[in-house]
Parts: sequence; structure tokens; C-alpha cells
Amino acid sequence: MGLSIQISPQQLVAPVIDSRQVMPGVFYLKLKAPPVASLARPGQFAMLGCGPDVLLRRPLSFHNANSDTGEVTFLYGVVGRGTRWLSQLKPGDTVDILGPLGNGFTIKPDSKNILIIAGGMGVAPLCFLARQAQDGGRSVTLLLGAASAANLCPAELLPAAATCQTATEDGSAGVKGLITDCLPQYIDKADQVFACGPLPMYRTLAKELSLQGKPVQVSLEVRMACGLGVCYGCSIKTRDGMKKVCRDGPVFSMQEVAWEELAGL
Ligand code: FES
Repeated sequence: MGLSIQISPQQLVAPVIDSRQVMPGVFYLKLKAPPVASLARPGQFAMLGCGPDVLLRRPLSFHNANSDTGEVTFLYGVVGRGTRWLSQLKPGDTVDILGPLGNGFTIKPDSKNILIIAGGMGVAPLCFLARQAQDGGRSVTLLLGAASAANLCPAELLPAAATCQTATEDGSAGVKGLITDCLPQYIDKADQVFACGPLPMYRTLAKELSLQGKPVQVSLEVRMACGLGVCYGCSIKTRDGMKKVCRDGPVFSMQEVAWEELAGL
């Protein structure tokens, strides 16, 4: 699953180009990091330093990487001291970055219609994937779910040419309910399905009969200490034994993951 070649990650001190809040508790960060931007692929991540008082770097999936401008972007929620430090960055500040890391999404050469299912902040790596699929001439449908309209990713950060269906749990935008409720309308046309979101969304997808037989790739977000395959802190159980999310993933085949064994994401 995913890219099979491990490319040496680059480590550098990257200047901040843009840093701002885009949703309640969610921030957008743009860094100038040309060696990372030229290597990064959708689904991969970088480890970002979070200031002098936070020992461990924080893993963030690429929201985009542009090898022409040398810029990489991230969308992340503030969940602790490290991400709070990141959220206070201003243009001109610098961040220690190590990446790209992990194995990303793989689009099959014969896939013409791509279906993307994003739950909450799971939209971040899927935007990068959607852009790559569109650049390859594929049609992209994005199913985007959130708790409410305020938690939906702003349109300017989404891939422009994708067909987008939204759902919110409180009905304040799009269809009222869960984004997985929209699946039956779109699944038949899809050659490949990609998903990123919370564990309950994955559990629903794993039981969804219409997805059986479809190639589905999911990106897992788990706690990581080293991000380099050294500490075993990100190990999960799969049908093929234990795997490290940082090294073997974060993208896995949905059928490969032992969902009943995952405690929480
Ligand atoms: Fe250390 Fe994956 S985070 S092995």
C-alpha cells in the first residue's frame, strides 16, 4: 500500500509565509521549504518542531506542497501545547521541519473517478490528493462532513474543480447527518475511494457493504513520538500483523486495518 520507496527526509529551518485561524480552533500554516515541497506526496506528513519548551515534534499531514514555489501548507487543530505554540507563529518566524515522512496515497493509473470522504480535519491531506488527481485529468468528488457549518473547511482551501457534497450533523450546512449517509449516491461511479477522518467514520465505512470490493485507502492519524519508525509508539494491529503508522502508513488499505483492535484515533 502507498509509495513503496522511502525517500530520505529533509530537515531544515523553514520561514513562515502565512499563519492564521481558518475555523474555530483550526489553523492554516504555510512554510517556505523547497527541499520538502519538491519531495512531498499526498498522504505523507512532516514532523514540525513546536518551540523550545516542547520536546517532541508534532506530525502534520501536508495540505499541499508546491515544488514550483517551494511552499508547503498544513491545516491543523490546536490540541495541546505544541500546536498552541504553532498557532502563535507569525510570518517571518521560523519552524524546524523534518519531512516528507511515511507512505502516502496511491492513485491507480486506470482510475478515472476518484471519491474522497473527509470527516472533520481529515480533509487536510485529501485536498493535496484531490489536486494531484485533478492534475492527472481525473474527476474528483469530495464528500465533506463536519459537526456544523462553522467547522467546514473554507472553500478557498478546498480543491477548486472538485464536485463537493457537504453534510453537517446539526444541519446548518449541506445535508443533515453524517457524511457517510451520502455514500450510496456516489459509490457506483467511483473507481477508487480515499478517506480520512475520525475512528467512528472508519468503522462505518468498514461495515459499508457498497464498499466491499472497492479499493479504499485510509489515512490514520495517531500519536507519534519519533515519526521515524524507531520508538514503536504508533504501532497498530493489521490483518498482516503489527505495523507502524509512521513508517508503514499513515495510508493503509481499509481492508488491511484491524478496526476492532483500534482503541481511538
Ligand atoms: Fe516512533 Fe512511529 S512514531 S515508531
